[in-house]
Amino acid sequence: MKVTIIGAGNVGATAASVLATKNVASRVVMLDVREGFAEGKAMDMMQTSHMLGNDTVVEGCTNDFSRTAGSSIVVITSGIARKPGMSREDLIGINAGIVKDVAERAIQASPDAIFIVVSNPADTLTYLTLKETGLPKNRVMGMTAILDSSRFIYFLAQAIGCPTTDVEGMVIGSHGDSMVPLARYARYQGISVRDFLSKSVLEDVINKTKNGGALLTKLVGTSAWYAPGVGIATMAEAILHDSRKMISCSVYLDGEYGEKDVCVAVPAILGANGVEKIITLPLNEKEKELFRISAANAHESIAKLKEILAKK
Ligand code: LAC
Repeated sequence: MKVTIIGAGNVGATAASVLATKNVASRVVMLDVREGFAEGKAMDMMQTSHMLGNDTVVEGCTNDFSRTAGSSIVVITSGIARKPGMSREDLIGINAGIVKDVAERAIQASPDAIFIVVSNPADTLTYLTLKETGLPKNRVMGMTAILDSSRFIYFLAQAIGCPTTDVEGMVIGSHGDSMVPLARYARYQGISVRDFLSKSVLEDVINKTKNGGALLTKLVGTSAWYAPGVGIATMAEAILHDSRKMISCSVYLDGEYGEKDVCVAVPAILGANGVEKIITLPLNEKEKELFRISAANAHESIAKLKEILAKK
């Protein structure tokens, strides 16, 4: 199975490296606009393969979409990343044009692919990719809340003082400040985290989760890449292995959760057909309202996208 990763920057290259290390795909093709850049990263990764004991072939190319032909999965990470103080929405002007172009060229080379969109603002650019490729909604998704959920789990584990693997938690909504970490559903070895953490500590965990990406951008000077890269690889693995894993990610809603014509994160079953099923969680009134506000932000961003595209 072949996976194409468009954009061999920090996020794209980490995803390629994790996919290769885990031997998930037989071939990973990285494409970048910078001359020789993806080729160099691919060569570096291939020089790890003997030591790590995997036989995934990683290749790089400079903007040559013919090399991506016949991919099962296309991951779009192209565009610019956040700098400290920027919101994900600030990137829309530049990244919309880039993602539109890349999606059009990638679908021509791989008409049967499933698309995973990572470039920010990811929910809006997932929507753009869906519309641009004309693919059915099950074949386009955004790598968003799998990452936010993993950050939520990390901050919960930090607060409890336990390993992250003892914790389960999920975030839904848009990949921005209004995301909705579902504290009511979070568990520490099957027991509600609310039995271990006070209301104020839990509130602090929720705020840290919402600001997780911004904090990393401030600390590192650019957007995070290890966890986003693993997020991509985890989604790709669920699809390639048809594992039907439940993953919170940005999907097109057509009436689910009371929303239409928008991409935001909700739990989805990922398998060979991409989004096999959307899970409707029984949310309480407060959670429903928070989700509605978060989805409203995604609608607003789509309206902005349409304005931008109309001007081009
Ligand atoms: C982040 C970027 C990938 O949250 O949106 O780190």
